[in-house]
Amino acid sequence: MDPDSSEPHHGLSIFYKKLSSKTEAIETLNRSIGLRVTKGNYSIDLYSVQCIECHKDYLADSEGSHPIGISYTKTTLKGSKGYNLPISLNRAIRFFNGKIGCGTCHKVDSKEKSMLVMTNNKDLLCSECHIK
Ligand code: HEC
Ligand code: HEC
Ligand code: HEC
Repeated sequence: MDPDSSEPHHGLSIFYKKLSSKTEAIETLNRSIGLRVTKGNYSIDLYSVQCIECHKDYLADSEGSHPIGISYTKTTLKGSKGYNLPISLNRAIRFFNGKIGCGTCHKVDSKEKSMLVMTNNKDLLCSECHIK
């Protein structure tokens, strides 16, 4: 009924995926994401938008979730004392246009627990950025 609505394209994508029609699934998912990004007020990166398509709860301020969409570069430039400089971070930690996204800490082909970009044993991942 509304060709610009993101949700039905998302639903269609899941349907195609179940039918193993990979090309159509990707096409419809991209379309769904595109509509979300231009229609909604997302200031977050496309990688994160894809994750949130399925992990919808994540943005609902759930316990254990981390803020995204924040510019790490700006945070550290402001002189916030609690953070290490971007240049000193483990190279596995990525930013999206300077901002934190799901892909800052996660990588789908990772062998680490919870698909993390590096181990978080002894809070190692957290203390890359946060100075305790
Ligand atoms: C097509 C839907 C879908 C998309 C897109 C998706 N996920 Fe998931 N993800 C799932 C499902 C389903 C599970 C399994 C949930 C469970 O086991 O309870 C899961 C599990 C996970 C887990 C837990 C894995 C573990 O080892 O415990 C992480 C972390 C995760 N996803 C991160 C991501 C990130 C980051 C992205 C974006 C790159 C992403 N997901 C995109 C559906 C999706
Ligand atoms: C600052 C780092 C960081 C960012 C950013 C981040 N995560 Fe995670 N995520 C983690 C860590 C660390 C864990 C493992 C949690 C644990 O073991 O307590 C995790 C766990 C998860 C899990 C598994 C949860 C569970 O209960 O098993 C999912 C799903 C997930 N993240 C999805 C996402 C999505 C989607 C985004 C973006 C919206 C995101 N994460 C952004 C660090 C991050
Ligand atoms: C890539 C750098 C980075 C990593 C890795 C990271 N953080 Fe953060 N974190 C930030 C930044 C920047 C903020 C500030 C967000 C803001 O300005 O609101 C933040 C905010 C937070 C907050 C919100 C409260 C506050 O201080 O504003 C918590 C809680 C937190 N981080 C915990 C963690 C934990 C736990 C981990 C490890 C799983 C982690 N962070 C990993 C950069 C990071």
